[in-house]
Amino acid sequence: IESCIKGKFGREVEYHEIIDSTNIRAKRLAEEGASSGTLVLADLQEAGRGRRGRTWVSPSGNNIFMSLILRPDILPSSASMITLVAALAVYDGIKNLTGLAAGIKWPNDIVANGKKLCGILTEMSAELEGIHYVVVGIGINVNMEEFPEEVRQTATSLFLETGEKVGRSRLVAAVMEAFEQYYEEFISQGDLSGLISVYNKNMVNAGKEVRVLDRSGDYIGKALGINEKGELLVEVEPGKVRRVISGEVSVRGI
Ligand code: BTN
Repeated sequence: IESCIKGKFGREVEYHEIIDSTNIRAKRLAEEGASSGTLVLADLQEAGRGRRGRTWVSPSGNNIFMSLILRPDILPSSASMITLVAALAVYDGIKNLTGLAAGIKWPNDIVANGKKLCGILTEMSAELEGIHYVVVGIGINVNMEEFPEEVRQTATSLFLETGEKVGRSRLVAAVMEAFEQYYEEFISQGDLSGLISVYNKNMVNAGKEVRVLDRSGDYIGKALGINEKGELLVEVEPGKVRRVISGEVSVRGI
């Protein structure tokens, strides 16, 4: 893997054959002072974690389980934008390596034909004054040929989509390279303004009807795209646009 890495992201790699969760390990390493750009990789996770307390299916041999440590000098309230940057990087890495134009499902899933190829779980340690570290956990279904019954309808892999096996180290490197470029753009702007158009172009929800469930209720509208903060703009009636904040809602195509 080290031989494939070009930049700072993933230059320091800690690899485990078996681990509970790369996110748990990366948080521990970050607490111990690991530098920004350090990557934890595992072949198998015994306690892979998804969002909203769910588990992430993590069998050996076929997939990518990785967590990147970042130390951005931004406000904690801006950290959720990093997840969108990561989604863009995974989209690009897959496209560059396999030619597959998957899609980003706002805010941070990568999907193909309506099924999930990749999930991202971002965790942060911060105080009011600033961020200690952010851990971006990325799970990509790469060469898996079959999924357990319970996720068969909702999960897919690059192999199932393209019919070809993909070198995992090369994909990790491609994602790291894209991530570093997009991240630098994000940090220099302080928001996603430089990435809105590329994100929206690759977002599967754009232009589609979505159903939003959040604290303010349950409504249907047309997804227009993201704004500079990564919020989803949803037109609920002509000329009336609501902003959906990442992490607070579930958006489903209907
Ligand atoms: C989701 O629910 O969509 C997020 C899934 C995130 C899974 C990845 S796999 C690598 C890292 N370690 C974990 O325990 N979770 C993330």
